[in-house]
Amino acid sequence: MAGVFLFYITSILTTFNSPKPTWSMNFQLTEEHLAVQQAARDFAQNELLPGVLERDKHQKFPEELQRRMGQLGFMGMMTSPNYNGGGMDTISYVLAMEELSKVDASASVMMSVNNSLVCWGLEMHGSEAQKEKYLKPLAAGEKLGAFCLSEPEAGSDATSQRTTAEDKGDYYLLNGTKNWITNGSSASVYLVMCQTDAAKKHKGINCLIVERGMPGFVIGNKEDKMGIRGSDTHSLMFTDVKVPKANRIGVEGYGFTFAMSTLNGGRIGIAAQALGIASGAYELALKYSKERKAFGKQLCDHQAIQFKLAEMATKIDAARLLIWQAAYLKDQKKNFVKAAAMAKLFASQIAQEVTTEAVQIHGGYGYVKEFHVERLMRDAKITQIYEGTTEIQKMVISRELLR
Ligand code: CAA
Repeated sequence: MAGVFLFYITSILTTFNSPKPTWSMNFQLTEEHLAVQQAARDFAQNELLPGVLERDKHQKFPEELQRRMGQLGFMGMMTSPNYNGGGMDTISYVLAMEELSKVDASASVMMSVNNSLVCWGLEMHGSEAQKEKYLKPLAAGEKLGAFCLSEPEAGSDATSQRTTAEDKGDYYLLNGTKNWITNGSSASVYLVMCQTDAAKKHKGINCLIVERGMPGFVIGNKEDKMGIRGSDTHSLMFTDVKVPKANRIGVEGYGFTFAMSTLNGGRIGIAAQALGIASGAYELALKYSKERKAFGKQLCDHQAIQFKLAEMATKIDAARLLIWQAAYLKDQKKNFVKAAAMAKLFASQIAQEVTTEAVQIHGGYGYVKEFHVERLMRDAKITQIYEGTTEIQKMVISRELLR
């Protein structure tokens, strides 16, 4: 059964007897990478595709499916095996992200936030006790994490945090509201950015690990979204929530640096999501163009359609190269800030363009929900907004250029 063979990220590594696949910029994926890619493709086709239209319609993602992603190793791919992760490189991660996103971008954003914002953030910056307590179940997919930076009045302007964490000795008293939080109601571990010393501006911001169920923590309204409708996005309210000091990530005032450096890595994941949405729509358009006839010949025999396909494929390849470059630099422990922002900027832009053309090639069928490209076009838009808008990526890139 394909499902049984499917994945087992950890078993792939064991098979190849290599804790971290290495890769050089020769455009040749290793056997391990190809195995991960194939396993992700099989999972997406066999287990995500069947219910994706229903999940989009009803804005639901079954808990069993989320757990299944954890069992198969998708939720902590880059986390060290010491903390229950797959110990894989970022290239493996973006390959899996692309495959899942071709089919279901709601599943892939859940995966992306857990992997690159929560697990990677905790592994890079958390204490040993935090890794034992929180990272292990998150990387194993037994728990789900959320990254809570955005607020009603602090989206792109992330230094303007209004959520406060008053220092009370051995705990903080947390008060405020977070908005548009991915995994808002399905998570049980929340990384919450909050202001402790407003006079110090961003250097007074902390990141606290908040557990679901802590008194005073309430999950607010679910957003009714244009796209990624299977993913749950909520506001969160904190009223006098007592958070132990041991739950602060890093030293006092480290929260903004933590958020920014974690988001640099997260942006590679969202770029791969955008790429997957684009390549999923392209593959559907290519297939349809070979099936549908107009004016006495296949759509793909019309030059107008051929040129569209040529442009779509070129944009997809260019985005993939930028993403692989950013992933490669990250794996090599080189500065990848600019490369990650460029990858996200470009991939999210071409996801818009490619999905729009895929709908155009499908004509009237592309405008109805059962043809998937309609959903992919709606899903594409968010990649230009979350984890730093297009405009923020341009700020990050230009600051790096002018440094
Ligand atoms: N990497 C590392 N550090 C960075 C950084 C980056 N990319 N960008 C800024 N910083 C650091 C700066 O070096 C500075 O630190 P120091 O003072 O120690 O030097 C500090 O952050 C403040 O930076 P600025 O003075 O430049 O502040 P600014 O207000 O002018 O700009 C910003 C900051 C870059 C615009 C930042 O607010 C930002 O990135 N905003 C976008 C926020 C974002 O991406 N939100 C996504 C929400 S999370 C999400 O979407 C998850 C989800 O659910 C899917």
